[in-house]
Amino acid sequence: MALISSSGDLPYKKDFEKQIESVENRENHKVVEASVNSEDNVENKLRPVNMDTYIGQKALKENLKIVIEAAKLRKEQIDHILLYGPPGLGKTTLSIIIANEMKANIKITSAPALERPRDIAGILTSLKDFDVLFIDEIHRLNKVTEEILYPAMEDFSLDITIGKGHTAKIKRLPLKKFTLVGATTKAGSLTSPLRDRFGLIQKLNFYEIDELTTIIMRSAEILKTNITIDGAESIAKRSRGTPRIANRLLKRVRDYALVKGDKDINAEIADISLAMLNIDEKGLDITDRLLLKTIIDVYNGGPVGLETLAAATNEDVSTIEDVYEPYLLQMGFLSRTPRGRAVTPLAYKHLNLWDFTNT
Ligand code: ADE
Repeated sequence: MALISSSGDLPYKKDFEKQIESVENRENHKVVEASVNSEDNVENKLRPVNMDTYIGQKALKENLKIVIEAAKLRKEQIDHILLYGPPGLGKTTLSIIIANEMKANIKITSAPALERPRDIAGILTSLKDFDVLFIDEIHRLNKVTEEILYPAMEDFSLDITIGKGHTAKIKRLPLKKFTLVGATTKAGSLTSPLRDRFGLIQKLNFYEIDELTTIIMRSAEILKTNITIDGAESIAKRSRGTPRIANRLLKRVRDYALVKGDKDINAEIADISLAMLNIDEKGLDITDRLLLKTIIDVYNGGPVGLETLAAATNEDVSTIEDVYEPYLLQMGFLSRTPRGRAVTPLAYKHLNLWDFTNT
């Protein structure tokens, strides 16, 4: 099977290529066996491939280490694992690490790619003992695919219906002992029969500034870019607690430093280049500020229903819910009330709309 393409001669490259047999093409939602675009390539290059190089998520890492070690001692597959939390925190990365630690292969797909029964059946029958099957956005599985997964997860068998109507027969095919790693931004949207089939359910939290600073320093080293600790910290502060964003901002700042004379990245260069991208010192971008300002200007600070807010800002309900809102809630700029979303005094202060010294 063809491997994901990855440029450079990093120590991680070989391991990584060995692990990835197929990768989801997010554009057309099919499992593909081809190269992905160059931004994805850089993201892949920056992924840690073992637990020791994975920074942050301390409690989760400890739990995973125990599960992996126990599985190794018993010479059994790892229990199925559900990872949930906002996008960009490392759910795919962790599943690759799990496969690596088990010296097994990983197949990466996402629920929208598993449209027909034969999509999931084809993948399940191709798995070997200890392999990891990673299904992203697992809350979006259709009913038929989900029902194929139940016996696959529980008894490692694939139930195939042969024929139609009252003459239909069910044939059971044995599967290898694989581990399903499911990832979702919406744990609450999973059906309970599916949720109950995971042996370990773990939440990923936003990263601390010092953890992101370390991740940025590591990424800069892989990208052969010189950066000061202050420069990394300045990027970390604007990264919304999210490594994917930290790495993306690092690349933009690196571009700026190169164009402005191939300078090393320091706090000043990071501050200037990120200000040019309209990212403020708390990591809010234009859309975050639009959401907050719309609630303030149009709805008097809220509460306002999510659908109304989405219509007023021309944003997708699920984008607000999955991408923007979690960080605004975490920062204390937004609150959720039974009647909708409301802006907090902290947000007024951050947007310079309320002078607390006069109140
Ligand atoms: N790159 C992206 N996420 C990372 C993490 N958690 N640790 C190290 N490098 C990363």
